[in-house]
Amino acid sequence: MAAAAVPGRQPFRGQAAVAAAISRQPSRAPWPPLLPHRGPSRPPQAASYYCNKLGFEELAYRGLETGSREVVSHVVRQDKIVFVLSSALNPGNEEMGEHLVKHGDGVKDVAFEVEDCDFIVQKAKERGAVVVKEPWIEEDKHGKVKFAVIQTYGDTTHTLIEKLNYKGLFLPGYHAPLFKDPLLPKLPNGKLNFIDHVVGNQPDLQMVPVADWYQKNLLFHRFWSVDDKQLHTEFSALRSIVVTNYEETIKMPINEPAAGKKKSQIQEYVDYYGGAGVQHIALNTSDIITAITNLKQRGMQFMDVPSSYYQMLRERLKTAKIKVKENIDKLAELKILVDFDEKGYLLQIFTKPVQDRPTLFLEVIQRHNHQGFGAGNFKSLFEAIEFDQDARGNLTVLNPSGETNLL
Ligand SMILES: [Fe+2]
Repeated sequence: MAAAAVPGRQPFRGQAAVAAAISRQPSRAPWPPLLPHRGPSRPPQAASYYCNKLGFEELAYRGLETGSREVVSHVVRQDKIVFVLSSALNPGNEEMGEHLVKHGDGVKDVAFEVEDCDFIVQKAKERGAVVVKEPWIEEDKHGKVKFAVIQTYGDTTHTLIEKLNYKGLFLPGYHAPLFKDPLLPKLPNGKLNFIDHVVGNQPDLQMVPVADWYQKNLLFHRFWSVDDKQLHTEFSALRSIVVTNYEETIKMPINEPAAGKKKSQIQEYVDYYGGAGVQHIALNTSDIITAITNLKQRGMQFMDVPSSYYQMLRERLKTAKIKVKENIDKLAELKILVDFDEKGYLLQIFTKPVQDRPTLFLEVIQRHNHQGFGAGNFKSLFEAIEFDQDARGNLTVLNPSGETNLL
């Protein structure tokens, strides 16, 4: 990962400056996604799910007991990954209620820690971005933090967080968790370290405008990888552009469905989420074999891969310029996917959706000198996803007018 700030660079002036400001803490960026969950009873259950199944621990809490009268939030953390699970406390909370009715559980916000919140908001506003909430300051006895909220795709937002010498546990108003689950220290380590990338699904023909939005408003640029092309199986397809900040520490792939014989998995997501939204969050590990062994022991469910995938992989690796250090039999046993080029490779695996709607899921990824996103695996991954999509009755046939018919 690149250094946080290049010595001698003048921060907050020009393109490099804004990007540097956004990526102040590269290992923590994007930081942290906020996931609203439905109903006042859900956040503790959802927090328990992330802790028990994925190796997170409760970091902080705010709710009635701490003086937060409207919203309850459970913060869970694993190394540098932080998720905030929030819900409305009172009847009639329109913002959170309408979001849940429309989208179900999902990622409402992907937050970035920044160096100069005011500057980024001012520049984004000049370029036409919608500012949901102008910069404001919150404080407690541990110090002050400045926030602002910018609108991105769909109903998703980016919160900008500028810590002004803040020394508290998490953010102002948050307290230590009320309860520490005694089971968690007895479970094997999740081994997940930081957020690698966050993927946004868009409705048809919205990918380019959204990628342009990041380039124009946050001064991101396109991350030229092999993924930036049409990816397809026999039945369905998608297109993807990856945008990144100046220092390339924040990666935001943007997907849209493409025409195929059957409904794209991106379209299935858009149908169930009710528009654009976060499709998956990839969590980076330095030891995917231990991580997945442990997460499977914890009962986390992952996408299956046909065993033929590993027969094909072994053939392809015979003529490859790189050598995969990990035992292929072990990767096959755990159903971990491999993608490679002449310089390096990555290992990845995808979870089943983490809520009832077939929308948000997670990825675990380990990189060995390879900065792609698994384009070589898209076909096998799609086939596995389509197997599940078919089981849900949603692998529908597209007729010439673009409408779908159930098989
Ligand atoms: Fe991914």
